[in-house]
Order: sequence, then structure tokens, then C-alpha cells
Amino acid sequence: MTQLTNSAPLRGEITIPGDKSISHRSVMFGALSKGTTEITNFLYGADCLSTIGCFRQMGIDIEQKEEGRLIVHGKGMRGLSAPGSHLDVGNSGTTTRLISGILSAQPFTSVLSGDDSLNSRPMGRIITPLTRMGAKIESIRGDGCAPLRIDGTNSLHGITYHSPVASAQVKSSILLAGLYADGVTSVTEPVLSRNHTELMLCKFGASVSTEISADASARISILPCQELYGQKIHVPGDISSAAYFIAAALLVPGSELLIKNVGTNPTRAGILKVCQDMGADITYVNETAEGGEQTADLLVRSSSLHGTVVEGRLIPTLIDEIPMIAVLAAFADGTTVIRDAAELKVKETDRIRTVTENLTRMGGDVTPTEDGMIIRGGKALHGTVINPYLDHRIAMAFSVAALASDGVTDILDSSCVDVSYPGFFASLKSLTV
Ligand code: S3P
Repeated sequence: MTQLTNSAPLRGEITIPGDKSISHRSVMFGALSKGTTEITNFLYGADCLSTIGCFRQMGIDIEQKEEGRLIVHGKGMRGLSAPGSHLDVGNSGTTTRLISGILSAQPFTSVLSGDDSLNSRPMGRIITPLTRMGAKIESIRGDGCAPLRIDGTNSLHGITYHSPVASAQVKSSILLAGLYADGVTSVTEPVLSRNHTELMLCKFGASVSTEISADASARISILPCQELYGQKIHVPGDISSAAYFIAAALLVPGSELLIKNVGTNPTRAGILKVCQDMGADITYVNETAEGGEQTADLLVRSSSLHGTVVEGRLIPTLIDEIPMIAVLAAFADGTTVIRDAAELKVKETDRIRTVTENLTRMGGDVTPTEDGMIIRGGKALHGTVINPYLDHRIAMAFSVAALASDGVTDILDSSCVDVSYPGFFASLKSLTV
């Protein structure tokens, strides 16, 4: 448990740890490459450690060095060996869904299983397209969830899959299987989801193209590939982790915080647009780009916020930040409507439910809907006991709420933040004393 109270202004600067999505992919693509992949600013969070563990079980030598340096000794696209036991994917949906695409094409059988939350998340969304490609993949309990058994095959075929959801995990799973297919593999999605897989696979030597239509739908295609090549990867800071510090600086009066090295890839940066729509004072400094990934330092000053509407094409660009946005909305003047976000129900928890429950406990006025929430802001929030139900993003969003609320807040099972941000509470405390 961690106890938090009303905070002094946040001042100074903070450097945000590496991006979780990019960290996962750098291990996976490095493992499948010829030669060495050297990664800096890697996120040593529990989810990424699950990915490292799985590839070690398949014979990949991965050296964990100091301060986010990681070296992956790749064995090429056909160099993985059969794991001696089931692959433990922990709490990580990204590990599970992306690795399933890879395992579908390996010459061995594997079983993937995770914790209770992971094993209750929907895997039909990857089982269906991978099966259409010729993969042999089944939900062992027959409920469409992990544990999954994958009997790898060397006869995958290219398909065009029209994904009903904008999900980078689904898209990436199919594209990774497509590396091993006998022809072009294409995925369409209603809106382009985070595009780290496409950018990084191109860097590692694969041929990937993206077309965006006038209605914003996307078609991503990959060609079969013979070999990927080890790379140097510098992982930008995770905007999903930065979101908590952006929000804390906005909400605690008198704050002025420089948040350094934040990934601002437009397929991820929707939170910045929403904050600006709500009246936030955020200045971009030191904008750079490397390997197609944009980064910036963000200077955030406390601001009085007003309600907004968060919907449509914006949703995939901020899906993981919605718990934080809901908390910001509770402190803003007026009403905020979040819609088109039914995907919230299939995250580490049903985040419509866990946000509503915890915000209500703090005195917030929130109505859950089928695909989002309506939050009537401007109510004074008070400290309480927060149950994140082991969901890292709920624990962090409500820790920030505690800083701007009256009284004492207890965050139960607060170590769940280690999934994506092991030093979170230490960083928060260092800025708020
Ligand atoms: C991720 C994609 C998103 C996101 C998750 C990480 C990724 O999930 O919520 O935290 O790294 O590809 P979906 O693909 O289910 O939207």
C-alpha cells in the first residue's frame, strides 16, 4: 500500500523511463535478427521482463546492463528453439499477442499463460486472423482466452484481414506472422493504431507499407522476409508514463515541471491534444526524431481546466491514458464525455468499471456508459482507499488524483505500478516534497 496526501507544487524536471511498447518490440525483433541489437533506455518494467523471459526460454541470450542498456544476441528468423516449459507472459497483453504471431511460424509447439488478468483477456481477436493464415492456435480452456497452445507451422499464407478494432497488438501479431507467410499480408484498421511495429520492422530490414484513406482508415502491408538485421535502438520516454506527471503538474497549483524525453509519435500523443483542448499550458521544447519516432521535452504549468469531448479517431491515440484523462476531467469545470472507447473494458481491468468505482469513492460525479464515461467536473475530491484491482494505470492515475485532493489516500497493492513504471512512487515523491 502507498499513502499519499495533498501535494506541494511540482517543480524541476523529470526524465521519463523508456516506452513499454517500443521496449517489447526491440527485444522481439532483436531476437529474430541476425547479429546483435543494442538497446538504450530500455524499460525494465515487469511486462518487458516477461518478454525477455520468454525469449530467453527460447534460447536467446539477452544481457541486462546498467541504466536501461540491453543487448540481445539475435539468432535470426529461424533461430528460436522450443521452450522447455510453458512461456510465462505475466500481465502482458503485448507479449502474448505479438509473440503468438511469431510462434505460429516456429517449428515447435508452445504454450503461453499469464496471470489471472491476462488469462481473462480476449485472444479470439488474434486466434481468428492467425488461424486464417494457417496457424494452429487454440485457447486451451476453450473460452477464447489464454492459456494458448500454438503448434507452429511452416506453411502460413498471406491474407488481408479487416480488423474491426484499431489494435496495435492485433495488427502486430498478424504482421509478425506475415514475415513468415508465402505472400503479402495486409491488415486494415478503422484508424491507424500505434505504428511502432511498422516503423521498427522497416528499420530491422522488413518491407512494410502503410496507406491511409480519406476516412482515416489504414491498410498496412508486409512482405515475406528472409532475414532481419540487428540494430541500435534508443527507446524514447513513454508518453503513457509521462501522462501522470503531465496531469500532476496541471492539477497541483503553482507547479512548473519540465518532463524530458517524451515520445510524441502522433499515433500515441492524443493525451496532449486533449489536455490542450481542456486549457492546459504545455510547451514543447527540444523536438527531435529518430527512426521515425518523435520526442520532445514538455514544459507543463498548472492550469485551470475545462471539460471536453474525447471520441472517435482520437481514442486509439490515447487509449491507455483514459484513466488519467477521467481524473483530469473530475477536476475540470464542466462536463467531459468520453465515448467510442469500449476497448477500455478489455484492458488489464475493465477500466470503465475501475475508474468509475474509484472516482466515485473520491467524491467524483461519473456515469459509466457502454463505451466510455460522462464526468461532471468541479467537485472537490477527498482522500479514500483506492483499489486498483492490480491495474498499474488505475493505481497511477489515482495517485495523481490524491495529490490534488483533500485528506489521505491509500493506494492498495500499489506495487502493481511495476508493470510499466517501477520507480513511479519514488519519482512522484521526489517532485512533491
Ligand atoms: C499496445 C497496444 C494497445 C495498448 C497496450 C500496448 C502495444 O493495446 O493498450 O497497452 O504495445 O501494441 P491494443 O492493441 O489492445 O489496443
